[in-house]
Amino acid sequence: MTDSRFRIDPDALEALDDRPVARPRAGAPLDPHRRRFLRGGLGLAAAGFFGAPLAGCAPSAPAPGGRPAIGFTPLARQTDPAFDAVAVPDGYRARAFYAWGDPIRAGAPAWKPGASNDWRDQLEQAGDNHDGMHYFPFPDDPNGHGLLVINHEKVETEYLHPNGPTVRQDADGRRRRPVREVKKELAAHGVSVIEVRRDDDGEWRRVMDSRYNRRISALTPMVLRGPAAGTPGLRTASDPDGRTVIGTFANCALGYTPWGTYLACEENWPNYFVNRDAADHAGRASHARYRVSQGEVSNYYLWETAEPRFDATPDPAAPHGGHVNEPNRFGWVVEIDPFDPDGTPVKRTAMGRLVRECSTPSVAPDGRLAFYFGDDTRGEYVYKFVPAGRYRPDDPAANRHLLDEGTLYVGVFGDGGKGEWRPLVHGQGPLTAENGFHDQADVLINARGAADLVGATTMDRPEWVAVKPGNREVYVSLTNNHKRGQVPDQPVNGANPRSPNLHGQILRWRERDDDPPATRFQWELFLLAGYHRDTDVPDAQKGTIDGDVFSSPDGLWFDPDGRLWIETDYDDAGPDHAAMGTNQLLCADPDTGEVKRFLVGPRGCEITGITGTPDGRALWINVQHPGISFPAGDGHTRPRSATVLIEKNDGGVIGT
Ligand code: FEO
Ligand code: CA
Ligand code: CA
Ligand code: CA
Repeated sequence: MTDSRFRIDPDALEALDDRPVARPRAGAPLDPHRRRFLRGGLGLAAAGFFGAPLAGCAPSAPAPGGRPAIGFTPLARQTDPAFDAVAVPDGYRARAFYAWGDPIRAGAPAWKPGASNDWRDQLEQAGDNHDGMHYFPFPDDPNGHGLLVINHEKVETEYLHPNGPTVRQDADGRRRRPVREVKKELAAHGVSVIEVRRDDDGEWRRVMDSRYNRRISALTPMVLRGPAAGTPGLRTASDPDGRTVIGTFANCALGYTPWGTYLACEENWPNYFVNRDAADHAGRASHARYRVSQGEVSNYYLWETAEPRFDATPDPAAPHGGHVNEPNRFGWVVEIDPFDPDGTPVKRTAMGRLVRECSTPSVAPDGRLAFYFGDDTRGEYVYKFVPAGRYRPDDPAANRHLLDEGTLYVGVFGDGGKGEWRPLVHGQGPLTAENGFHDQADVLINARGAADLVGATTMDRPEWVAVKPGNREVYVSLTNNHKRGQVPDQPVNGANPRSPNLHGQILRWRERDDDPPATRFQWELFLLAGYHRDTDVPDAQKGTIDGDVFSSPDGLWFDPDGRLWIETDYDDAGPDHAAMGTNQLLCADPDTGEVKRFLVGPRGCEITGITGTPDGRALWINVQHPGISFPAGDGHTRPRSATVLIEKNDGGVIGT
């Protein structure tokens, strides 16, 4: 561990882990912010699990005939180093709607600009680093009343605490974090559920006294279900049954179900744990293959120095090896019923343990389903899960645990656009005891290792997946991979054609017969991101975009009319991206490939999370880790991640 890692955005760790970095003095407060800016200088109810399907919630409703209209005048790139706002095209407006520290409900503590709220306050306030998000409409007024469910991926420790993070050096030479700070960080991770309504005056507002408003955090108890629940690999000294976990964190992108539940996905969890025993780590696939931190302390926040369960070093004297299996209890899909504010979140082990970006549904008219996942690390894989049962709109009880049984597949993106899904099923092919897989729990806990053995195709950091309304065509963003073609296990191939790949690509496929459970598919590249062909940059930085340029596609979402919205996550201060401007939201026509820039964000931020009303007239996006003073925009208030509401001034459909 180097102190510098503490400064790094979890998403960026992969990209930064081989750059030279400065080492702060031991014991000195650390600056965790990856992009430095001088403040003020630079510049019903509810149906839920047992309810009826929710109006407007069908994920694969057919698009209206013909191509979607894309009518706005695109924005220019935003290259001002002091840009501290969100800009949208003429005819649109955007405003911050729900920022880090906002009270979750009426009576909860207000955010204090000096960040002096303690961890108990934080449990009752919006978390940090808003990411994936979904709008769940109420059936009686789907376009004017719903629940927004929002992931809080990580924390900006520089801003979360009044004077940044504290690390003390104790007499034994070890660096430690104060419990009060760690608890505030645990509380600022997780998920928000907030009720939203368009009032009679036409303005969208939060419903502050809602019974649905809720924070789920890294301190919230939840249960494990499915084939791995209760098995030895999930047992710990504090949970000898292997069925109860405290918390979820690293919730990046998301999924949802047609039965009205939210799927929070656990992405960069390996960096929150440490196994200090190098030999044990090397021989333990569930640690080594996922790159659980190894060394003196964990990669990110040093939580293990205040909360023992994050220290996954084996303890032979303790039951179940102490907390050595604690990292095995993260990396799952967490199903949350937003309409049941007292419900216990459920980790669904049948869907496999990954560094999981998303869990995007595809639903056939007859109720057969697939969920698509990206494992966002260089050279990892694209997966899908096919439940054994069908979605039954008229039988909510049958849907309740649909995610507990089914088949996990990993993708092979072969030559000529030929694609194949290979099952990760114990006893099939190489997934046997001789290869370390004694049962299906072993396969699910070490899904990456299983995927290695069946010959999956290594991909350029799979992020979000989006499924096109109507024909269920599937799009995945492969954000970038500077090691593509530079290391033996990641050779250049058709789906990942550039070496090094600094700007990423979007790939798409159609399942055979457009059938979600199909095991064969046909894929093609939708676009390579990067600069235009006529730009004065190295050839490796030139893409194939028809329209406005961008790098590092991350968030991907289809609106109900079939427009493809693309969100970006690149280092807007880095030399390869300086001419790209700040991070962006773009709108693409999936038929023509034309791309138009719809929104530019404040300096230092990532644009992520996107959802809207079924009528397309309200759109929410997230501005994650802004760099200067957004949303205050006054140049000195500390910046706060925030959900932003976008509307058209004439009340029309966004994008037209
Ligand atoms: Fe948290 Fe892969 O983005
Ligand atoms: Ca992020
Ligand atoms: Ca992401
Ligand atoms: Ca990213």
